[in-house]
Formats: sequence, structure tokens, C-alpha cells
Amino acid sequence: MSHIWHPYTTFSAIEKGLPPAIIRGAGCYLHDADGNRYFDAISSWWSAALGHSHPLIVNAIAMQSDALQHSILGNMTHFPAEKLAQALVELMPDMSRHVHFASDGASSVEIAMKVALQHAYLKGQPERTRFASLRQAYHGDTLGTLSLGFLDHFHEPFAPVRFPGSQLPVPPYDGSLENCIDAARKIFSEQGASLAAIVVEPLCQCAAGMRMYDVAYLQALYRMAREAGVMVIVDEIATGFLRTGTMFAFMQADLDPDIVCVGKAVTGGALPLSAAIVRDEIYNAFSDLGDSDGTFYHGHTHAGNPIACAAALAALAEYDKAPLRDNVRTMSDLMQTGIESLADIPGVTDARSLGLIGAVTCETTAQAQAAQAIMRDRGYLLRPLGRVIYLMPPLVTARTELEAMLDALRAGLSAA
Ligand SMILES: Cc1ncc(COP(=O)(O)O)c(C=O)c1O
Repeated sequence: MSHIWHPYTTFSAIEKGLPPAIIRGAGCYLHDADGNRYFDAISSWWSAALGHSHPLIVNAIAMQSDALQHSILGNMTHFPAEKLAQALVELMPDMSRHVHFASDGASSVEIAMKVALQHAYLKGQPERTRFASLRQAYHGDTLGTLSLGFLDHFHEPFAPVRFPGSQLPVPPYDGSLENCIDAARKIFSEQGASLAAIVVEPLCQCAAGMRMYDVAYLQALYRMAREAGVMVIVDEIATGFLRTGTMFAFMQADLDPDIVCVGKAVTGGALPLSAAIVRDEIYNAFSDLGDSDGTFYHGHTHAGNPIACAAALAALAEYDKAPLRDNVRTMSDLMQTGIESLADIPGVTDARSLGLIGAVTCETTAQAQAAQAIMRDRGYLLRPLGRVIYLMPPLVTARTELEAMLDALRAGLSAA
């Protein structure tokens, strides 16, 4: 009997049989204890962007773990974290920033939210206590991040303790681009003065079912937030590191956010590490050098763990390489034509892609699940989001692998 409480897993699923026990990961594949090999079509919850056991990451982990496994960043420092902070800042449009490390994605969003609240307080605007986020937003499973949006039946028990916020409509799901901009403008004009920050998943709301939206909407939100003096927090935890074709999705909208949250693929998915990358204009307000103490009293034990930082530095070096970037470009084009060609399958109501994210919406959840089961028999690991079945393969996926995966998806959807 297993003593694991599996995340996002129902008792009925466990009752149907033990989940596969994965014993090895190599490249795009996971191998289970029964000798089966699966293509990791969801990059292990969108993190294993460079595939599994990438030799340069394995080597970086081994070397760092031999030298220093952990040391805190409170009143101390170490070179792997220093180098990683520098490398992350260099990826930003405006490099005057400081990096607050954490371990998982939700914690970095919590940091960003708390920075926004404390910054408003320090700037003599304590009335700025609310957050605006997108409808169906997902920023993690902690109570603070749950408050930013996503309210599905599985979050209902927590509804009474969510703090109030403003929810911005998302085109085309909640109306046309123009209507959504109008609705957002109304929210900013009525509530702008009470907003500490707007928090957005740029261009694709992944957990909500790969809801992709127009770059013009992101630009409009950014403009409105700037005009209302509202801080802009961009959550790149799912979309960062070339997933949407650019290093970060927000770059397609040509913005310069106040805080950028990263996680998941920052270490190539090998180890838990996340970060809130904060503009210096904000960071500088947290000083205790004047009359009062503005220090941000927040920290996680393993924030900036040296081994995780070393893995991240190796991953960032890979994201910078031309062959990987070329592969992302070529595979993104292939994903787009392949996914679009699925739109005419009976039962498919929508097919869309962005970079190396491909998604189709089925008429029913049963169809998505049936397609998943067929794909599983063909050796692909997928996890549909309700009626949406999606592919988010590692960025190192080869053409033949992506073609075969799209063929399998076509067969699965047609048979389902
Ligand atoms: C956009 C976004 N933000 C935050 C998170 C939470 O990250 P973590 O699961 O590492 O806490 C996720 C996870 O899927 C995500 O997609």
C-alpha cells in the first residue's frame, strides 16, 4: 500500500490501479518499473523543458553538490545564487533589478504579492490592498495565490477565506477584444486606486485549459495599469524560457513588467527553484537606512539553494544556444500546422497553438480522456485539463517525434 497522498489525484483513479512508477528519465522519455517507455508530452508539468537528465545539468548538480549543498541567503551569500541572479536580470528588458528566490512557483507569486502590498504601504498608499487578475487565473495552490482567481469546484472549500480581488475578462472567452478592454478600463477607473498590483499569465492561461489570448490585450492591460499607477506582475512560471517562442511571453507584447515570476523550467525542471525578479525602483523602497525600517521580512529556507542555482545556470546556458532556439522555432511551426489540422476532427471544437504549446478543445471531457487513454497505449504521457487535451513537449523534441505525436493525437481524437 502506498502512503503517498498524490497531488491532483482522485481516490477513484488510485482505485483503478497503481500509477506508473517512474524509475528513469532520459531525454524526452520516462521509463517505468514495468519496462514501459513514455514520451513526456507535458514536460512533467511544464518543467522539463530540456528533457530529462540533461548531461550538462546532471554535471552541474554533481559538481555543485560536491562543493556546497546548502547555505542560506539571509545575511550571507554564495556564488551560484549571485551568478544566477545576474543571469536572470540580464534576461530582463530593464536590468536594474534584484532577485528574491524561492523554491516553487506559488511561493514566488506570494513574494510578488507581498512585495506589492508592502511597497504600497511604504509609499504611503495603504489603501492599495487589492489585486486584479485574469478570470480563470491560476498562480498556484497556496491561499494567497488561490485568491487571484481560479475558482473551480475543487477550490470551493476555500472560497470563504479568499481575499477580495478584481477579475479581468479574457478575450475571446469572455467577449471580444474591444469589449474586454472596455470592461478592464471600467475596473481600472473604478478600482484603480485600491489596486496594489495586476497579476497576469502572459498570452496563455495554461492551467485554465491553454486559453490563449491576443497580445493586444496584454498591451492594453499594461497601459491601463501604468496609467492607474498599478504595479504589473507577470507570471512566467509556465510560459517562460522559450516555451511560447520568445524567452518570456511578455516580450511579445514589448512590455517591461515591475515583477517577473519564474519557476518550473528555470532549472530545466531538474530541481525546485523559483524567483521574483523585482525592478530596483521598487526594491529601493525596502530600505532601513532612513528613519524607518522597510525591510521585507520574508524568506524560505531553501531559497536560492546552491545546487538548484547551479542547475538553473546550466539550463540558462542551454536556452541561450542557437540550435535549441532554432529547434523551438521549427517545432513551433510544425506544432501550429499540426494542431490546426486537427480542427476538422468530429468532436473537436477548437485547435490552437502558441510556440511549443498545442491544444485542442473537445466537445466532452470523455472524448479528451478517451484520446488520452489511446495516446497512453501508444506511449505518450498526457494530462487533459477537462475538455482540453494539450501537448507541451520538451523544447528538445525532434521533428520525427513531434510528427509522430501529432499523428497519435489525430488517431486518438478520431477514435475517441
Ligand atoms: C502560471 C503558473 N503560476 C504558478 C504556478 C504554480 O507553480 P508551482 O506548482 O511550482 O507552485 C503554476 C503551476 O502550474 C502556473 O502554471
